[in-house]
Amino acid sequence: MKARYMSFKPFVLWRNVGRPIDWPEQFGSQAPLEVEIGFGNGEFLVRRAQQQPGRNFVGVEIEWAPVQRALRRIAKSRLTNVRFLLVDAHPALQRLFEPLTLRRVYSLFPCPWPKERHAKHRLFSHAFLTLLNSRLQPGGEVLVVTDQEPYLRWVLEQIPGSGFEGDWRVIAPHFRTKYERKWVAGGQREFYELRLQKIAHHAVPLTKEIDVQARRVARFDPQSLELPRAGKLCAGHPPITVRCRDFLYDPERRRAMVAVLVAEADLTQDFWIEIACRGDHWTIRPARGCGVVPTAGVQRAVDLIWEAASGQA
Ligand SMILES: C[S@@+](CC[C@H](N)C(=O)[O-])C[C@H]1O[C@@H](n2cnc3c(N)ncnc32)[C@H](O)[C@@H]1O
Repeated sequence: MKARYMSFKPFVLWRNVGRPIDWPEQFGSQAPLEVEIGFGNGEFLVRRAQQQPGRNFVGVEIEWAPVQRALRRIAKSRLTNVRFLLVDAHPALQRLFEPLTLRRVYSLFPCPWPKERHAKHRLFSHAFLTLLNSRLQPGGEVLVVTDQEPYLRWVLEQIPGSGFEGDWRVIAPHFRTKYERKWVAGGQREFYELRLQKIAHHAVPLTKEIDVQARRVARFDPQSLELPRAGKLCAGHPPITVRCRDFLYDPERRRAMVAVLVAEADLTQDFWIEIACRGDHWTIRPARGCGVVPTAGVQRAVDLIWEAASGQA
């Protein structure tokens, strides 16, 4: 197989850099910042960045395969004003962009989740619009294009009280993205373009991170450790779900590893917690190198394992 060089420079490892991200530092310039959510193959994003070299562009995508394709596209174009994030748009907007910093946000053909029972997955809810509003500069704009009229109607219902004024129209296909081509190939000739203009500011603060405290126990017996039950739901607000998925123990190094899944309001994390012997005691903390975002849920997971280890006979 022929190896192909693909620079990872445009790919921002958001778990490993300071948050919120210092975008002027990332780009080396203070240019106006635009974001595309769900950029797919990156065709529109790269074209926009070519047309507007005086602006900086950040693509937010939840799937890895499109990010890879977009990295190849950008390697060919040699653009320097594009960066990509592999992350759900909710934590991205909550944690990675300072309020009042974005000039424009685009989303072409967001997943419409047409079934009523899946409506909770639709991206442009009232809460998400309010979050977008808080991250946009005064007069900033959101552009949403959809092939689904019911989705357009649903987004229009979400607007009141979000600080936006909405204006929509029927348009012909012209974005030349994978999904636009797909719908055109299926016979669709008309799409719906919604422009949201920021007319009032709604403050949504950045989600705070915490200092996760390591815990210690005097004794630890890997044989008798009873891990918290699968799917354990912890009381409290907002709710946190912690699930222990695996347990490994290395008797030579006297180190145990617990694989945990922690689900919180805007973020789900999959990582390891280590229980390591340090002479006369054992420490419990997130294992290094897992790229954990320190949250109340991570602390809760550490504490649940601590409680289980402390309760050993
Ligand atoms: C229907 S595709 C459209 C792709 C592209 N914009 C186009 O026109 O070809 C929707 C894209 O949004 C991404 N996506 C869905 N939910 C997302 C989320 N919460 N955050 C970021 N990306 C998301 C999907 O992975 C997918 O690439």
